[in-house]
Amino acid sequence: MRVAVLGTGTMGAPMARNLARAGHEVRAYNRTPERAAPLADERMAVCDTVAEAVGGAEAVVTMASDGPAVAGMVEPALGSFGDAVWAQMSTVGLAGLERLAALAHGAGVALVDAPVSGSKQPAEAGELIVLASGPASSSTSSTVARSGHPTPGSRAR
Ligand SMILES: NC(=O)c1ccc[n+]([C@@H]2O[C@H](COP(=O)([O-])OP(=O)(O)OC[C@H]3O[C@@H](n4cnc5c(N)ncnc54)[C@H](OP(=O)(O)O)[C@@H]3O)[C@@H](O)[C@H]2O)c1
Repeated sequence: MRVAVLGTGTMGAPMARNLARAGHEVRAYNRTPERAAPLADERMAVCDTVAEAVGGAEAVVTMASDGPAVAGMVEPALGSFGDAVWAQMSTVGLAGLERLAALAHGAGVALVDAPVSGSKQPAEAGELIVLASGPASSSTSSTVARSGHPTPGSRAR
């Protein structure tokens, strides 16, 4: 799968590494380029812009500090998402999630609210617990709980 990872800090960098090790084609972007640069030595494309990273992606992972950071990074590039599913994995809270959901809805992008439980070591080991909720059409998981009302991962977290 072609995956864009936006935000390669403490959590995003090891997540990107594990995606690449699992055979996915990863394109990474980070506001501070120096922080993403080492990923280029690990079979990942490090991009100068968000639009470049998300172009042609099937999934876009955001892993930045908070809601405003994610919104500021993603909003100008939503038009480049195409059919990509947006897996929003940063911790943004319910208010942050509402804003991001509105941005996604306005751009016709499928948003999966997918905050994680765990820290740096589980991220490196590929052992984060992901609390994902989103459109059924965006799921490839065999462990899906179906609900008649919205139960965002951010509420569960
Ligand atoms: N660390 C943990 O143990 C842990 C555990 C569970 C969940 N989380 C959540 O995971 C998310 C990422 O945490 P982290 O530990 O990876 O944080 P981090 O190491 O501080 O990295 C933050 C990332 O957000 C980017 N960023 C911050 N402000 C930005 C802005 N205005 N525009 C664009 N990019 C911006 C940073 O880019 P720069 O490099 O350019 O600053 C960096 O890529 C947070 O929501 C956090 O709450 C963390």
